[in-house]
Parts: sequence; C-alpha cells; structure tokens
Amino acid sequence: MSGQALKHVDSHSAIHEAALNEARELNDIMSKLLRSNQKDKAMEVALVAVEHWETRTLRHADAEEEGLYKELVEESPELRDDILSLTRDHDMMRFLVKEVKEMLEKDGFIKEVLEKFHTLVHIDAFHNIEEERILPHY
Ligand SMILES: [Fe+2]
Ligand SMILES: [Fe+2]
Repeated sequence: MSGQALKHVDSHSAIHEAALNEARELNDIMSKLLRSNQKDKAMEVALVAVEHWETRTLRHADAEEEGLYKELVEESPELRDDILSLTRDHDMMRFLVKEVKEMLEKDGFIKEVLEKFHTLVHIDAFHNIEEERILPHY
C-alpha cells in the first residue's frame, strides 16, 4: 500500500484493527491448546501466527518505513522524534518475531512462545495508538 493510502487515518486504523484482532484470536487459540496440553496443535497454530505477524504487521511496518514515514517527516519535520520511536517499535516487533521463530525451532511450543506473542500484541496495540495520533486527521 502506498504512503498516500496509509495517510488516511480511517483506512489505516482499520488495517491495524483487523491484524491485531486476528493476532489476539490466534493467541486465544494457542492458550486454550496449551491449557489442554495439545502441544502439536499449538505448534501448528504458532507457525500460522508467525506467518501472520510477518505478512501482515511486519510487512506493513516495512511499507511504512519505505513510504509513509519519509513523507510525514518531509512534510512535518517536527514529527522526526515520533517517527524514530515508531520505527523502534517496529524493530522490537521484528526482534520478538525472530526470537519466537528461533524458540519454535529449538524448543518447539513452550509457554514462553505464547508470552512473546502476548507481548507482540501489547507493543502493537500501543504502537498503533501512537501512530494514529500523528497521522493527519483531515
Ligand atoms: Fe500502521
Ligand atoms: Fe507502524
């Protein structure tokens, strides 16, 4: 999606909401499977969740850094610090997804995996609020 399309707060926040809701649902499924000790199924859902974070939120983040963020700073240089913070949030989410993948490969589905998926949801929820705050409200 182009920087221009992401600039509209309504459509942009709808993208955030959809991705975050799906991530929350996947977390719910994983915690139920963990509680009923169905680790193989939890592992399958974890792989789906990794793909979800990579193809939705992290790809969205890449697109923002390549387009939207550059445009916003060009138009409003005072947003520079906000954009730096938002980019740092993206980096934290990239780091967590990488850690989850390594953990799944090394240890399979353990409860720390689910903790990291919960952390991702929290960081993303805060990130979205902060990002929507600085988008132009036409
Ligand atoms: Fe966004
Ligand atoms: Fe973002």
